[in-house]
Amino acid sequence: MTVSVSPENFESSPELYRLGEVTENRVIQPQEFGIAEPHAPLKIIETIVSDPYVEEYNFIDAAEVKQIESDVSLAAQERRLQGLWERKQGTVYFDENGVEQEKKGWGDPVSRDNFFNKILKSPAINAWRSKIPSANALADLSDPQTKTEVTDNRGNIVDMDETAHKWLTLCTDAVAIRSRGSIMANVVKQFIDEQKLATDSDEGQSLKWMSIACGTALPAMKAALHAGIQPQMLLVDLDSKALQATRDLADEIGFEGAMSQRSDVNIFVPAEMAKLRDELGSNGDRPMLIDLMGIFEYTGNNLGVDPVHFLRSVYDMLHPGGRLVFGQMRDDRPVADFTMGVVSWPYVEMRSPKEFMEIIEAAGIPVKATTLYLPTDNVYTVGVIDKPLDNESFSVPA
Ligand SMILES: C[S@@+](CC[C@H](N)C(=O)[O-])C[C@H]1O[C@@H](n2cnc3c(N)ncnc32)[C@H](O)[C@@H]1O
Repeated sequence: MTVSVSPENFESSPELYRLGEVTENRVIQPQEFGIAEPHAPLKIIETIVSDPYVEEYNFIDAAEVKQIESDVSLAAQERRLQGLWERKQGTVYFDENGVEQEKKGWGDPVSRDNFFNKILKSPAINAWRSKIPSANALADLSDPQTKTEVTDNRGNIVDMDETAHKWLTLCTDAVAIRSRGSIMANVVKQFIDEQKLATDSDEGQSLKWMSIACGTALPAMKAALHAGIQPQMLLVDLDSKALQATRDLADEIGFEGAMSQRSDVNIFVPAEMAKLRDELGSNGDRPMLIDLMGIFEYTGNNLGVDPVHFLRSVYDMLHPGGRLVFGQMRDDRPVADFTMGVVSWPYVEMRSPKEFMEIIEAAGIPVKATTLYLPTDNVYTVGVIDKPLDNESFSVPA
């Protein structure tokens, strides 16, 4: 083990929540995912993203984490197949207006106890997992090495330990949360660069950006900094605790864009989304960028939210010519039973890239306005939709 992360090792303040770089893009044929041409997106791109945190570890540490993760995932899967626990359907978790919701019994208590209390035995990891599934838990995964402490869901501060550093860095979902954030930052930067070229001006400073289900908004703020813009951000999330963390995070990372927050919009209630759309005003006032990360998997029949209408309601709020970036957990992702059974994340609807495209098409969104990015950790599909300028002519199919 070679990582040493004490602050005195840094001569100047290190950059916090570092992004990875896209090092390679490979175009994949839609047929590989069973998508027939008329339904195919403009492009499907397999993307290799570097990870500055993973790079701090040697391959022996990485292999050890992967092995344990795979073993406990398989054990949890076996117990699930024996009917000893199940992925319970329900509704997405949020702390509405700061009132902590009752946590339901997600996952497998036996696998969870075995992993956290008998295998890892890390006080810092236990403090971290108390925050599941709040978006506050995701911020720790976005910089697992610089921080010297972890704050649990009750505000208790626990010293970071080596086991926590290692697992928050190397486990599959931590890598995937960072890779989707890095891809989002990359596509936002591309968009801003294209806008600058097209308009020959620096509109990035006044660009309107809406982050829906933003959590702490850390990925959105990092992406804005990466693109060199300080946009006007409208942050929408029911979890006011996560929104409270945003200000501190903005100061920590030097985000100086304007921010307004809305913790009163339930994004899964069509009437509330329609009201928000009306408040945003006509096309000219609507956001040019919308990000919708980490929420689309909370839609579907099992969760009582129609994904087609939800997506359409978001798309309708986008300025013509604007860009929507959103993620979807894949149904062929590795170690799903580790995430759902052991770590005990709430129920999510995993979908193949094909199913993802079917929803986009059913929402009346032109498939050729869509590009799919597939990071090689294989956990998420990142969808990018560029709304045509003449989009007013599209309507939702009955
Ligand atoms: C997994 S987090 C993603 C946060 C952030 N976008 C990211 O990628 O780090 C999902 C967020 O959706 C919010 N959320 C869940 N259901 C919601 C609803 N019905 N209305 C508004 N926000 C909701 C939760 O509070 C949570 O912050």
